Amino acid sequence: MKATLVIKNIDNLITLKGENKPRVKNSLKDIGIIKNGVIALDGEKIVYVGEGELPSDIIIDENTMFLDGNGKTVTPGLVDSHTHLVHGGSRENELAMKLKGVPYLDILAAGGGIHSTVKSTRESTFEQLYNKAKKSLDTMLGFGVTTIEAKSGYGIDDFDTELKQLEVANKLNTDHPVDIVSTFMAAHAIPKDYKDNPDEFVDIIIKDMIPKVAERKLAEFCDVFCEKGVFTIEQSRQILLAAREYGMEPKLHADEIEPLGGAELAAEIGCITADHLIAASDTGIEEMAKNTVIANLLPGTSFNLQTGKFAMARKMIDIGVPVALSTDYNPGSCPTENLQLIMSFASLIMKLTPEEVITAVTINGAAALGLESEIGSLEIGKQGDIVIFDAPNLEYILYHFGVNHVDTVVKKGKIVYRDNKIIN
Ligand code: NIG
Ligand code: FE
Repeated sequence: MKATLVIKNIDNLITLKGENKPRVKNSLKDIGIIKNGVIALDGEKIVYVGEGELPSDIIIDENTMFLDGNGKTVTPGLVDSHTHLVHGGSRENELAMKLKGVPYLDILAAGGGIHSTVKSTRESTFEQLYNKAKKSLDTMLGFGVTTIEAKSGYGIDDFDTELKQLEVANKLNTDHPVDIVSTFMAAHAIPKDYKDNPDEFVDIIIKDMIPKVAERKLAEFCDVFCEKGVFTIEQSRQILLAAREYGMEPKLHADEIEPLGGAELAAEIGCITADHLIAASDTGIEEMAKNTVIANLLPGTSFNLQTGKFAMARKMIDIGVPVALSTDYNPGSCPTENLQLIMSFASLIMKLTPEEVITAVTINGAAALGLESEIGSLEIGKQGDIVIFDAPNLEYILYHFGVNHVDTVVKKGKIVYRDNKIIN
């Protein structure tokens, strides 16, 4: 077997070797660390992972490229499985309100928040949205992220804008090294015109929009913002069950601010993930564990909402809920592309161990997108998505927070980021 790329002398090679399914409980402790590791790729795929030297059946020739892992920590490419990547404008004007303690839902109810991004997104051309999202995607890649999820949801009742967002994500998926998985989320806010009759909008989503998105194969998942003053439990159930009929797997913004029973609903329907869960009930969390719903936790949003409340991550892990971690990158509740910062928050605020944190942004993040057989661990046959961190160990990356520790990013076997630059 030949090797096109070899990374050797790796001080800490974190493989995440194990079953291709979301990791829970004890399986979170063993992240498959190899000291003095070596990894070989042939084209897009991994062909060898081990300790010391390469075995003789791996053929090296003059075209084989070598990278040195001395003093470095190597992990699978990071997965950011919850973002609102494609949108127009920004909302720094909300900062003063936030500092005065005006709650997120009050800003939304007064016609700001998501509604103001809906306005900017509707007013943006395809090209403007593409260029803005590309810039963010470049930043994500620089932080070691090789696969993301991206939601629509800033067109809401303007279906053309919903489609425009999904098409931008689709084109970037083709043009950019980072892989993008799309989620349809017109159910992100109640449009002003349907304030007095939100069920009518739910009907439009179910009868008009979902079939068209499915027909154009524009999204793999469907998501709803299930929240007080936004979509109810019953409306969320109807939308997600309809989406599943059309082949879009359900996800849910669940119990982000008020404890509505979103976690329970996610368990009942069998959502692939329930996201946020800051206000989730004990029963909801237990039901998620029983039904293997992944808790996609977003501590950057807790930080930004300024309520001092974070999801009960320790409790979730202890009772067997699979946990993933994401940025929730969006212009309102979490304007950052920096997944490494989120990893530090998860460790320092939510008390996740370093092993749990790296699992949550690799194999469990992959599972949150249904991609656990292709990415999320460094094993023979898997895609060559790899991050080389300029850090002597995993703890160092979490502890030395707020900066970028990435040295090199490899996507599908190609070096796509090195020396602080994207390589085309
Ligand atoms: O995940 N909560 C709903 N959606 C986003 C925020 C979107 C926005 O404020 O623009 C979230 O927090
Ligand atoms: Fe979100």
